[in-house]
Parts: sequence; C-alpha cells; structure tokens
Amino acid sequence: MNVPVITLDGPSGVGKGTLTRKLAAALGWHFLDSGAIYRLLALAAERQGISPEDETALLKLAAELDIRFEECPRGDVEIFLNGEPVTQAIRADAIGAFASRIAVLAPVRDALLERQRQFRQAPGLVADGRDMGTVVFPEATLKIFLTATAEERAKRRANQLRAQNVSVNLEQIQRDIEARDLRDSSRTVAPLKPAADAIIVDTTGQGIDESFARLWPMVEAAI
Ligand code: C5P
Repeated sequence: MNVPVITLDGPSGVGKGTLTRKLAAALGWHFLDSGAIYRLLALAAERQGISPEDETALLKLAAELDIRFEECPRGDVEIFLNGEPVTQAIRADAIGAFASRIAVLAPVRDALLERQRQFRQAPGLVADGRDMGTVVFPEATLKIFLTATAEERAKRRANQLRAQNVSVNLEQIQRDIEARDLRDSSRTVAPLKPAADAIIVDTTGQGIDESFARLWPMVEAAI
C-alpha cells in the first residue's frame, strides 16, 4: 500500500494531538488519534464494570467494540461509542489512567492494531500515539517523536483545565503525568520510545505555532 503516513509519537500532554490535527488539515490528509481508541475501550470497560486486569473480558469487548470517528471540517473529530457521542467523556483523566493500564496488555494491543491501520486511507494519514512509528506504521514516510519536560506538560494540562473552569492541583497533575510516563515507557510491549529513524523534537518552552513551524519543513522535505 502506498498511502503515505506521518507518525507523531510522544508522552501525554506534549501537544501531539493538536499538532497532528494541524498537520493533517494543512496537508488535506486524514488523522488518527490512537490514544482515543485505547480510551474508547477503557470507557466501554469501565461502564461494564470490567477490571483493567481482566484480559479475557477486555479482548471480548475489543472484538465487539462499535466505534466511529467522524472527521469534521477544520480538523475536529466527533467520536462515537455504540452510536453515542463520547468525545468529551473519553477525555476524563480517570479514563486516561484506565487506558494506560489496559495498554500494558499485549493481546489487547494486538486486538486494536488492525483498527488503527484501517485509518490509512488516501491521500495520506498523520497518526499520533506512543508506538505509531515503532509498531503500527513501522514503514512510515516520516517519524517524529515529541518531547517536553513533565513540568511543562503539567502546566499545559492545568491551563486546559482552568480554561474549562476546573480547579487544579498542579503538583498532583505533574505526579499523574510522571506516573503515566513511567507506565507507558517501562511496559514490555510497545513501550513509549522513539523509533530508531525518528526525528526527536523537544517542544519545551514552545507554543503550538512555533512547534508547527519547526515540523512543517520536515514534512515538506519528506513527502
Ligand atoms: O494519548 P492518550 O493520553 O489519549 O492515550 C491514553 C493512553 O493510551 C496512554 O497513556 C497510553 O497508555 C495508551 N496508548 C498507547 N498507545 C498508543 C496510544 C495510547 O499505549 N498508541
């Protein structure tokens, strides 16, 4: 298959979701938010009272999972679980933490692999996650690995929450981010790490527009 893929991997809160959407919009390509797929499975499991350790039940659920992504103009997406819009519900921190617990299970990851690859549609795909360049699309045209300090990522998350009028505890947010980083990077299957041929971009101290301006020449050179 010759449909080009650009991968953006990195830890949570690094801005890869926003950058992925901006790149996809600028290119007129599709995008994949692979974390949303883990979050959808987590939400479905939580609603059914399935434990994040119950591999058998999770695999059954993954096989039956009825999910739909509707791309809207200007880079937005509406996400559905069994026909119900859950775009906001899957963003809850508790669902992110649940997702990161089920993401350590190799059979669960395998069960979600094909669903992710199905997003590779003409004219091209920009995919964000933890293992896009290493496992899901190892033959990607361009692989970018984004980093930023945990402190900076916690501040970004706190600002997002404040904008939604949610009261925040910055230290707690940073601890949660560090715990998630540790779980994502120390798991044995598909750990969070740059592919050998990825370009590493540190976005500490940079806004989205500055980061986009750094990435765009790499994209132009690669496609
Ligand atoms: O990116 P996001 O925070 O939405 O992802 C939620 C969780 O799903 C991550 O903490 C990670 O454990 C898991 N995940 C993963 N592989 C991906 C995307 C997400 O393991 N490609």
